[in-house]
Amino acid sequence: MARTALVTGGTRGIGAAISKQLKEDGCNVAATYAGNDEAAKKFTDETGIATYKWNVADYDESSAGIARVEADLGPIDIVVANAGITRDAPFHKMTPEQWHQVVDTNLTGVFNTIHPVWPGMRERKFGRVIVISSINGQKGQFAQVNYAATKAGDLGIVKSLAQEGARAGITANAVCPGYIATEMVMAVPEKVREAIIGQIPTGRLGEPEEIARCVSFLAADGSGFVNGSTISANGGQFFV
Ligand code: CAA
Repeated sequence: MARTALVTGGTRGIGAAISKQLKEDGCNVAATYAGNDEAAKKFTDETGIATYKWNVADYDESSAGIARVEADLGPIDIVVANAGITRDAPFHKMTPEQWHQVVDTNLTGVFNTIHPVWPGMRERKFGRVIVISSINGQKGQFAQVNYAATKAGDLGIVKSLAQEGARAGITANAVCPGYIATEMVMAVPEKVREAIIGQIPTGRLGEPEEIARCVSFLAADGSGFVNGSTISANGGQFFV
């Protein structure tokens, strides 16, 4: 039986690779996006994957959007909380607005994405919850007090949900990508990016598809004993 998967931020970057991989794995996939209608339309035209627009930072929008996905595609078995933003600044320059924008999307947005699908997963005794955290939630990062705090918080969500869902057949796991060749990383000043690549033993940025493979593994029916874990995919840049 085909599983239904929801991928937030699923039309661009790492999320787009995850959406495509899960489709290839045989899932019915819904990919969400926040604002870029043009990219979403192009994505649907190219992949046939349904897209839905809502702001993950808003609980009511998220639960209404999830209800629409379930009416269209059926109950959600796999949820990938991937949507995330950066508002980088050294701490002495970081504004409360930059703090709140990142917390609202990357941390509260993860709550808003998982909470509405959780009761159905418990009832059906099956679920795969996968949160895309970051290497910078593990090690911290200059100019990312806000982002690193949320990505570390995402690991706390996963480890707690793993304990709550285990008896109901639900697993919760995280993937911590390192620096991946996406628009987000390309927005880092070139000199800084080159210095970061110098710290990656593999000697290159990762590819979105290399993160999607981790998600595919965690989402599989046969991965039920992998619960509360973190897969680091960072080219050897950081070990935990
Ligand atoms: N470590 C130490 N010092 C650093 C540094 C670092 N990683 N990055 C910048 N600096 C230093 C600069 O050399 C500069 O020092 P000097 O003043 O002595 O020359 C100073 O910090 C920069 O200060 P500014 O006041 O000029 O900084 P700014 O307000 O212009 O901000 C910045 C610049 C936002 C920090 C910019 O350098 C930047 O974007 N850095 C990259 C941050 C980063 O790695 N973000 C990750 C994005 S990708 C991602 O988040 C995906 C993921 O999950 C991995």
